[in-house]
Amino acid sequence: SLLEPILISFAYLLGSVPTALLVCNSMGIADPRQQGSGNPGATNVLRIGSPVAAMLTLVGDSSKGALAVYLAVLTNQPPGIIGLCALAAVLGHLFPLLGAYRGGKGIATFLGCSLVLSWPLMFAQLLSWLLVASVTRIASLASVMMALITPLLAWLLAPQLLSPMALISLLLIARHRLNIVRLFKGQEARF
Ligand code: G3P
Repeated sequence: SLLEPILISFAYLLGSVPTALLVCNSMGIADPRQQGSGNPGATNVLRIGSPVAAMLTLVGDSSKGALAVYLAVLTNQPPGIIGLCALAAVLGHLFPLLGAYRGGKGIATFLGCSLVLSWPLMFAQLLSWLLVASVTRIASLASVMMALITPLLAWLLAPQLLSPMALISLLLIARHRLNIVRLFKGQEARF
């Protein structure tokens, strides 16, 4: 039917809403694309702004993913379409064509998708992120580790979601390539 392409396109559009820019703009914080790591995401908003601004960015960016997936669940879409909506939301955040600004790195949006797809999976992902972040004090390392372990977590906790979860994880690792280069050079910023 016509509903599937509409849901997938809407998921992409939702994903491309620039939460970090909206939050920073409205709170009088500098443009996150020009400061710190240059990434429009919760981590960089924490770096250049405040914990409240970072929390708002995190909630906004995860809500985009959660809503995109929730609409597909609500309309009784098959698992394949639900997975595509999650992928589309993350792609929208990474590569927002409308507005033509550089997108973010997708971790918060991914967690939002997982929350609706399988909350135990989201909980496990979040736990892995928090664990690595608290031990190493490096957000990007926590993100890359989370993306690396997500296929295993999905296989254990929500095997029906393995393909979209693995695909999104791969995409997010690729999106962190500059962070990975800095990590190997020992040049990545800490909290
Ligand atoms: O989730 C964002 C984090 O993985 C990297 O952010 O600003 O340190 O590049 P940043």
